[in-house]
Amino acid sequence: MDQKRLGILIFLCLFSSTKCFVDVNRRVDCFPDLGASQAACTQRGCSWDAAPNGSPTGTPYCYYPTNTGYAVSSNDGKENIQLTKQGGPANPYGADISPLTFKTSKVGNVLEISIGTTGRYTPPLNLPKQPPSNQAETLNFQVTSNNTFSFKVTRQSTGRALWDTSIGGLLFADKYIQIATLLPSDRIFGFGEHVHKKMKHDMTRYTTWPMFARDIGPDSGSALSTQNLYGTQPFYLCVEPDGKAHGVLIINSNAQEVTLGPAPHLIYRTIGGQLDLAFFPGPKPEDVIQGFLAYIGRPFLPAYWALGYQLCRWGYKNLADMQAVITRNQAAGIPLDVPYADIDYMSHYEDFTEGDDWSGFPAYAQQLHSQGLHLILIFDPAIEVDYSSFQRGIDQNASFIEWPRFDLVPRQIQDQYPMAKSTKIMLGNVWPERNTAFPDFLDTTGKTDAWWAGEFARFHNITPFDGMWIDMNEPSNFDTNVYSSNRVHGEAPTGDKLACPISGEDGKLDNPPYQTQAVYMHPGENLCSKTLCMNAKTQRGTQDFYNTKNLYGWSEARSTYAALKSATGKRGAVISRSTFISSGRYSGHWLGDNTARWEDLQTSVIGAMEFNMFGIPYVGSDICGFNGPTTEELCLRWHQMGAFHSFSRNHNTQAKLSIINSLYIKFKGDPAQDPAVWPSVAQAAKQALTFRYQYLPYLYSLHYRASLTGSTVVRPLFFEFPIDSEIFSIDRQFLWGSALMIAPALDPGVTTVRAYFPADRWYSLQDETYGNQMPVGYNTVNAATTSLTPVFVRGGSILPRQTPTTTTTSSRQNPFEMLIAVAANAQPSFGELFYDDGVTLFDDITKNPHFSFNFNYSTGDTAAKLTFVTNDKMDLTLPTLDIIEIFGYEYYPDFNSFIWNGKSINVNVQTSTYYPLRKMLYIKTKGLIDLNDVASRATSVLTWSHRVV
Ligand code: NOJ
Repeated sequence: MDQKRLGILIFLCLFSSTKCFVDVNRRVDCFPDLGASQAACTQRGCSWDAAPNGSPTGTPYCYYPTNTGYAVSSNDGKENIQLTKQGGPANPYGADISPLTFKTSKVGNVLEISIGTTGRYTPPLNLPKQPPSNQAETLNFQVTSNNTFSFKVTRQSTGRALWDTSIGGLLFADKYIQIATLLPSDRIFGFGEHVHKKMKHDMTRYTTWPMFARDIGPDSGSALSTQNLYGTQPFYLCVEPDGKAHGVLIINSNAQEVTLGPAPHLIYRTIGGQLDLAFFPGPKPEDVIQGFLAYIGRPFLPAYWALGYQLCRWGYKNLADMQAVITRNQAAGIPLDVPYADIDYMSHYEDFTEGDDWSGFPAYAQQLHSQGLHLILIFDPAIEVDYSSFQRGIDQNASFIEWPRFDLVPRQIQDQYPMAKSTKIMLGNVWPERNTAFPDFLDTTGKTDAWWAGEFARFHNITPFDGMWIDMNEPSNFDTNVYSSNRVHGEAPTGDKLACPISGEDGKLDNPPYQTQAVYMHPGENLCSKTLCMNAKTQRGTQDFYNTKNLYGWSEARSTYAALKSATGKRGAVISRSTFISSGRYSGHWLGDNTARWEDLQTSVIGAMEFNMFGIPYVGSDICGFNGPTTEELCLRWHQMGAFHSFSRNHNTQAKLSIINSLYIKFKGDPAQDPAVWPSVAQAAKQALTFRYQYLPYLYSLHYRASLTGSTVVRPLFFEFPIDSEIFSIDRQFLWGSALMIAPALDPGVTTVRAYFPADRWYSLQDETYGNQMPVGYNTVNAATTSLTPVFVRGGSILPRQTPTTTTTSSRQNPFEMLIAVAANAQPSFGELFYDDGVTLFDDITKNPHFSFNFNYSTGDTAAKLTFVTNDKMDLTLPTLDIIEIFGYEYYPDFNSFIWNGKSINVNVQTSTYYPLRKMLYIKTKGLIDLNDVASRATSVLTWSHRVV
């Protein structure tokens, strides 16, 4: 821009309320909807400046002047501010609501900000809102301008502004709310659910990420795909320039989106509800997540067996087919705990039924149990409206999503169904052959939950499943206002399609003034596309589906988690496709319908870390890829990485898309991809999963801690090393807790991986280099297809293990082991073990009977000492601890000097060794330490003598 033009713009900015040049890096888009033009922009009272060459990608030409917003009309100086709409452009998408109430409050050191007015929708999440345990940091709130109201949230210890809304742009109409802020750093992570090709957001450009739950799989093949996937997670974590981190949560369940921009800044837009923000001050990334989860609710603890390997397929022809696949993988020696059945097992795709070819299923479930295995089955929310499950729902006065009025009910559909005929229930189409109803899990009377739990209980009495897989719960409806491609050939629905009004008074909710990018990126669509009509009623007729649609998967998970407990009487696992804030309390998540491509393997690593940030640590991708035929090499690599997903499941589709007469038709097609299909994959899966099974006590302890304190299970490297500037681009490696680092091979044709080792001690766990210390920085490490995934243990940690076999059930009977990785400068090493029976139900994890031990290893020039501290114990016999392995051990041990709690004990010198070159000590003695004895004392000590090498 030339000087003269800039001068004119600055003049206009000062002397007119609507023209104000804003730098291309700091713009708040005034035309995020379609049809921007200079005339239309000016009509909105916004500024129009074409972005010169070299401007950030996506720079808006039409932008709000910085005086857009509200003015303070009263401020009680404590927590309440009243805001009145001032000059500047009016809200382009509806009458400005004025006055607004602006409130601040604190939960411990979490700062809450609420902007709204009476009668606005707030999601009924019933969050626990406990204060974080780390109260070290304080956040301050300060109004920075009264005229165009702006505020700052600052970190007291550094004075840094975490939010600074002086960028302008606060808008609040019934169906369009917007807030914008400058950010303190470009290290922004989170917001979901999307496929993110990099974990750190690219803040050099403008990128809008819609958040509106949708039945659509991740498109990892494109350079950038911003489309909204199955869930809505309006939370981000920011690492400030000095390495301190904070998190921000926006509680709102309407269709919404965030634009990230280069200032760095963000613009958040939602089309309903109000703005409820919470700021979590950290200061470490782990503190941020623990504070966030204390506030929203910590994750459920999966049953121990649910950490075993899981094998699934959509397309088993019958029970015999499923049995054959399970048997061949067992025969190949693959560790395997959880066979799955997809919708194939149902009769006509109706929940709680079994098809004719599956009549032996109840006996098979029992057989799996007798082998120590467990069974997870799929259940869809959509219930066909002409069979007994639905009739019982009606009889029990369960609530279903319904039309707002009888005169909108399409009689030609409804009248086909005697059970639904006299109702307003909105009928759609999912897998069943005829129309379906959608249970209203937000019903507060408890009747819907009771009916849902009753259906599970009835079915469990027939086929005793152990966990539930809840799918299609965005909720997905195939045929809303369009032809659907989701049909399996020859199974076209006979029921009629759902048609939502999209114009006139009844179409207002499906055609709001601003429809969000979730709609604009699919030309010709509306909010109801692939789902139900926005004017439907939920919460037993009291709320518009427009407000609650993002809560559907969350509410189904809550209801199903309760049903699991009551049907099985045991802990299990629920896996949900759609998620919302705090879904982790009730379910895990799989990353949806990925494709058998290398890019999808790579983005799975990022997805798993993101969902840990969202409080859903039980997460994983479909190993080998869901859509499309996989390859031997890809499937092998995916198993090597996927063995380190908390939720580790191989799953693929039966269906292959083909285009016939311009229509997508699904045929049964994609080949099987269970590991036993290829000897090389079977070998690699066995190796990787055997490692996983050996380290399950550590993985389970991480989950236990996650449920107790809200820590992450799988975490990005920057969580542990936030002051290492190199670390923010590392998103192909990840950690289990703080102690294990995994650097999987994620590309075709490679035999090595260039892995980054942050400044600390790392020891290799791969066979060829077992126990070796790795140099800090980038190293090329062996990643042959025949080797264990590159995995390293961090100095200073102690990991509990158990000798592995091919099921978690039998591994649990085996002796415990302990790996001690010595820290630099002979500093002590620490670790912990949580253990219980793995299946007992509890309401409050702090009261659940369990063992909790802390371990502490320290050494001097003449002796070593390993201390066991018992924090909690339960009535359960523990196997003995038979193996202690120490990396970085620089002494000659005296195997005759071992003393346990003051008494000499024998170490088997035949099976125990010291490797001076590798600095590894391996102690193996049957019954070396009786952990039940440990549990009976507050502290137990093992010492031995040694001398410097
Ligand atoms: C869609 C799910 O995402 C997929 O995992 C499942 O196999 C199919 N539905 C069939 O149930």
